[in-house]
This record gives sequence, C-alpha cells and structure tokens, in this order.
Amino acid sequence: MTIDRRDLLLGALAGSLALIRPRRALAADEVARVDALIARMTIEEKAGQMTCLADSFRPFNPPNPQVGIQDEKRLSDEVRRGRVGCLFNGIGVAGARRAQEMAVKDSRLGIPLLFAGDIIHGLKTVFPVPLAEAASFDPDLCQRTARAMAVEATAAGLHLTFAPMVDVARDQRWGRVVEGAGEDATLTGILSAARIRGFQGRDLRRDDSLLACPKHFAAYGAVAAGLEYGNVDISEETLRETHLPPFGKAFAAGALTTMAAFNEINGVPATADSELLTDILRGEMQFRGFVFSDYTADEELVAHGFAEDARDAARLAILAGVDMSMQSGLYIRYLPELVKSGAVPMGTVDVAVRRILYVKAAIGLFDNPWRSLSEEVEKTRIFTASHRALARDAATRSVVLLKNDDLLPIDPARRQKIALIGPFGEDRDNLYGPWAFYADPGKGVDIAAGLRAALPDPALLTVTPGSAIAAPIDGGIAAAVAAAQAADLVLLAIGESQAMSGEAQSRTVIEIPPAQQTLADAVVATGKPVAILLRHGRALALHGGVADAQAILATWFLGSEAGHAIADILFGKADPSAKLPVSFPWESGQEPFFYDRKSTGRPVVDDRTEYKARYATTDNSARFPFGHGLSYTDFALDQLKLSDTALRWDAAIEVTARVTNRGKRKGSEVVQLYIRDRVASRTRPIRELKRMERVTLAPGESRTVRFSLSRGDLEFVGARNQRIAEPGAFDLWVGQSSVEGLHAQFTLYAQVKAAG
Ligand code: GLC
Repeated sequence: MTIDRRDLLLGALAGSLALIRPRRALAADEVARVDALIARMTIEEKAGQMTCLADSFRPFNPPNPQVGIQDEKRLSDEVRRGRVGCLFNGIGVAGARRAQEMAVKDSRLGIPLLFAGDIIHGLKTVFPVPLAEAASFDPDLCQRTARAMAVEATAAGLHLTFAPMVDVARDQRWGRVVEGAGEDATLTGILSAARIRGFQGRDLRRDDSLLACPKHFAAYGAVAAGLEYGNVDISEETLRETHLPPFGKAFAAGALTTMAAFNEINGVPATADSELLTDILRGEMQFRGFVFSDYTADEELVAHGFAEDARDAARLAILAGVDMSMQSGLYIRYLPELVKSGAVPMGTVDVAVRRILYVKAAIGLFDNPWRSLSEEVEKTRIFTASHRALARDAATRSVVLLKNDDLLPIDPARRQKIALIGPFGEDRDNLYGPWAFYADPGKGVDIAAGLRAALPDPALLTVTPGSAIAAPIDGGIAAAVAAAQAADLVLLAIGESQAMSGEAQSRTVIEIPPAQQTLADAVVATGKPVAILLRHGRALALHGGVADAQAILATWFLGSEAGHAIADILFGKADPSAKLPVSFPWESGQEPFFYDRKSTGRPVVDDRTEYKARYATTDNSARFPFGHGLSYTDFALDQLKLSDTALRWDAAIEVTARVTNRGKRKGSEVVQLYIRDRVASRTRPIRELKRMERVTLAPGESRTVRFSLSRGDLEFVGARNQRIAEPGAFDLWVGQSSVEGLHAQFTLYAQVKAAG
C-alpha cells in the first residue's frame, strides 16, 4: 500500500497538533495563523526560521569550536531581516529582550525568536552530572531536578534546553558518557522521560516550562572504540534494540524537538540520513516536532565525504529531515537558491518551517513574545536555597558506595583526626563537571569546606594535595604520607578533572592518572585506614592502592553542593543508596564493556578458563558491576514468588519478593529485576534490566516489592527488524545488582489459537 505524500504530510501535521500541547492541541486559530504566516513568508524568511546561531547579544563560550560567531551588530542586522529563528547559549533577560525587540518589532513579519541553551545539569545551581544522578535509579528525583533547572533556565531567558542526552554509552573511553544515563537502554529511557517531564512541566505555555531536546539522534554512544565523533557500525537490530527505544520513551514523554547526531551510522551521517530522520523518526516513531542539526554538523557532511560542498550539504540535510541548522548558516546561505533551482522543493521547506512555528506557537511565543523574559523573575528564581537543598539531596543520592570494609560511616563524635589528601580535596574548579559553563566556580562547596562544616572541630581536618591532577608535586607524596601518619584516618580525593570528561574527551585509558596513583599507593602503604573519594565522569578501572583501600565511594561530579553531600555520606547523615549505571571493568582494555553482553559459545561458567571467552590476563567481568552499590545497613531479599511460571501470550505474571532491612540504620535499596531469554532466533543478552524499585526501610522493616511482566517486556528485534517475542524458557532474577539475585524461571507460551 503506498501512502500518498500529502496524506503523510497531513497526518504529520495532524499528529503535531495532538502532540505539541500534551494538554490540548494547538487551537485551530493558531494553526490558521501559522499557515497564513507561512503563506506570506519569502524563501529567505523561511530559511531564517530554520537558522539557529550562537547568541552574541549575551555571549557565553560554550564548549564548541568557535566558528561562525557573529558579533552583536551583525547578528542584529540578521535578526531585523528575519534571517534568524533561534539563538543559543546566551543567558540573561536583558540581552534576550534586546534581541526579541528586534525580531518582533523591526523584522517584516515579527516572528519571535526561540532562545535555547545547553542546560544539561543546571544553570547557576549545578546538580550532579546526569551520569551521577542516573546512579540514583530514581526517575522522580530526575524529574524534580530537571524542573528546578527549568525554573532557573527560563528565569534567565531560555525557552529550550539541548537536553536530556539520551545516548546509551557502550564504551567508557567515550567522554560523553558523563552526559547521559549510562550503559543500559531501559534505565536511560526511564530517566530521560522523567527529565523531559521535569523540563517541560505540565503546560508548555507556562513561563517556567522549558522545551526539551533529547539528543543525539542516534547511536552516538556507540562510536567505535569510544572515539569521539567516530563512526558507528552497528546492526539494524542493535540500533533498534539499544539506541532507539530511549528516544521512543523521550518522544512519548512529550519532547517536541530532537537533535541529529554528529556520527554516521553504517556509512551514512545521521545529519543526512533520510531513512533515520524521516522514515524511522517520523514514520515509525511518529515524532511530530522538529529536528536540530548538531553544531555545524550539516557543514561537516563535506568532511565526512558525503557532500560535495556546503551547498550540497545543505541540500542533503534538509532533504533528510533536518529542520533547524545550528551555527553553520548553511540554510540561510543556500536554501533560497536551492529552492529557486528546484533542487529542494518549496514544500519541503514549508514542512520544516511549519514544524518550527508550531513549536513556537505551542509555547505561546506568538501570544507572548516576552514569555520567560522577566527581569523581576530573573532576580528571584535563580540559585535559591531550595534549589541548593535539592542539589545536595540529589548529590547524596548519586554517591555509590563501591566498597566498605567496616570503615564508613565516620562518627564525628569520636573526634578522629582526618587527613584529606589529593588534588580534589580543596578544589572548586572540578566540582561541577562538564557542561556547567553558566555557573560560578566560586560558589561551589568543595570537599574540605563540606567536611569542616560537618566536623565538631574543623581543626580535626588537615588538607594536603599530595599531587596535582596530572603531575607530581615536589615533596607532595612525603607531605601526604606525613599527614596520613599524623591522622587517624585518610580521605583520598582523586580522579579525573572535569576537563578530562565530556565532549571531545575520549581517553584510551580509563584509570586514575599516574601521578595520583603513585600518591594513592604511598598513602595506602602507610597502613592507615583509607577511604577513596573518586571524582570522575565515567567508569574507571581501579588498581593498586586505590582498589585495596578499605572504602571506595564513586562521587562523580556532584555540583554546587558536592562538599556537603560527601560529608553527609561520610558522616552517616545520609545513607549511600545509589547504584552503578555503568560497569567498572578490571582493565581499560575490556572496553567496550557492558553488563547486558552476549553469552558467546564459550562463556566462563566456572573456574575453568582455558579456551573460554575471556582475556588472557583478565576475566571479562566487572570489578564493580552495573547495578552495584552498598549501603551502611544490610538488605536481604527473599520470598521470590511468581504468580505463575507459565506466561500466557496475552497475559501477565506478577513477580514479588520481600526486601528486609536487617541492619541498625535506616536505608534505601534499589531492587532490580532482570531476565534472560534462554533460546531465541537472535542471541540474547545474559541479563536485561526490566524493572527497578527503590525502597526505603527502617531497621528491621520488610516490604514486598511487586513487578508485573508481560510479553512486551520480552520482545527483541528479530528478522526483518520486527519486534517479536518468542515462546520458550526465561530466567528471571530479582536482586541488588546485575550479577546476583534470587533466581526463578518461567515459560512464555505461544498464542492459543481460538478453537474452531
Ligand atoms: C555540541 C554538542 C551538543 C550541544 C551543541 C550546542 O557540539 O554535540 O550536544 O547541544 O553542540 O552546544
């Protein structure tokens, strides 16, 4: 059956009406207004709406190559001539009002500008980096922090954030793993949808609703060898099974924009991939918003070897389905001529413009171009005490207790002397992590400040760098060893600087920098009790004294309240409850490593390792696995029950288990449900996370967690890219990480044909 293009277009527009305002479609008069506007627009004005440029009215230097930056005077002319539709990465109401004044009052059609920015984990109040927050396994927390970020971003004159990053990161050498929710598609989908609900709120027209832009479509997290901007060579099955589903959850949560990825997939750059951006995104996934290119990514089609020149790149991008060109200026430069020459149909341009104007209408910009541009609000909603309190709570719930040999928590009342050693002890330049360029480094709480505020006597704490981040300090180790020997216990604050994480920070080795490793080995060799406070934006391969320390905390980049949160955890004011969203391997060389890996024909199943799927020197397992995280109390799981071990084709089974706090302290546990399809027409992972539930229990308290499983949870991508479930036996685990748990089996039965 062929679908008439017009029907597809009308369907798309109809779909956009339904989805653009989750509460109600665009009113008919707004649709008519947009259509009437388009009818009046010149091709240049249309190309202008499809052009997004760095905001010189309120300049900030985001971590992008500084190309194509136009000064305010030049940009003002472009805005007045209707040659710009969106400005990005500037903040501040005054600058935005100046720009909006020109767009609305000086341009021929007065179409308001859209203001966008990279609010990835906070504007002025910085929350834990997304990977850290993912360790909470708590969608409600992610929604609440996104809401707070939206309040600050809209107060500073933004309408849209280029977040959440939805890429499933399969290789920890890739620097951008820090920006997402880790290695698992299910967790990424759940948390990304929560972040979108938080950003956008319940009504897009509210002045504190921030449009989301789930990115990067698609499979950026699968770059070969973790090499930034590298190529992605994956099967259709892997694309559809691992990398697309979280975007499906994001669009279902109401996202109205997305961003095409820098990378190619199987030889076709995403920015020019019409099968990806039109057939899959709009056809199969029914996405109804508009697509940004990434920063100059359309122009980069030439470097990819996919476009002849910049004009060809513009043609390929618009025909593929990129609606808004970011920073290159290719659309305003080439679209008028491309349309006049017939290389690009005007209808294609009109569809892109309509998508963009529908989103502007959906957030009420035509009714109120001064939406989110109040200088009063700007003074009152940013860096508030409530936001900082939420940042502290989010940070304590992001810290993963990896190891604890009876060292933590520390009881301050014992007045032990504490040596805080390492380059991050009293460092405020690396608290926030990447993509927090709007925040003031001077306003972050570093570890030393947090500890001093929590200790009965700040003099109990000594602070000794011991080494720099990437180099030794003359006499640093001697001073650190002396400080350790003079103390009762040591806190070793080591790891990555924020410059070692994020975009364009792929690393061949994911280990503690050598100078810091030498420091750690020397300090641990003193025999004093040592707790490691890791700072990092990815999983790390830990060795030597770091791995041997009595306690290890994954503290990531925790944001504005880092020091207070770390002190809360160390002194037991908060109970560590987070779980790893990424696997910590034994060796860097295991990457790409992820828990939901395949069995192979020779899996290691016991201590016989000859001729097995492992490295000669290292088991292909994790030192600390996905889903792992300890607490200060002791949780036990038992009483695993299935309502039935036979799952009928259209039925569901209930899975229950009891979780008990057997310890003496209140605590939280994230109970995880995994399955394994034992035999299928495509080999299946040895474990797949399907459900999770966070429970908080008092000492001695028990609770029954309940999960429901049905055939849809068992589907995978089989032949001809069809999502299918296949009858047969399944393993099921309910546990506290991806490597253990209470085990059961069930069988999915084929559909029973109706009799007769
Ligand atoms: C960057 C990133 C993208 C970001 C954009 C704007 O290169 O890839 O995630 O939103 O440019 O800063």
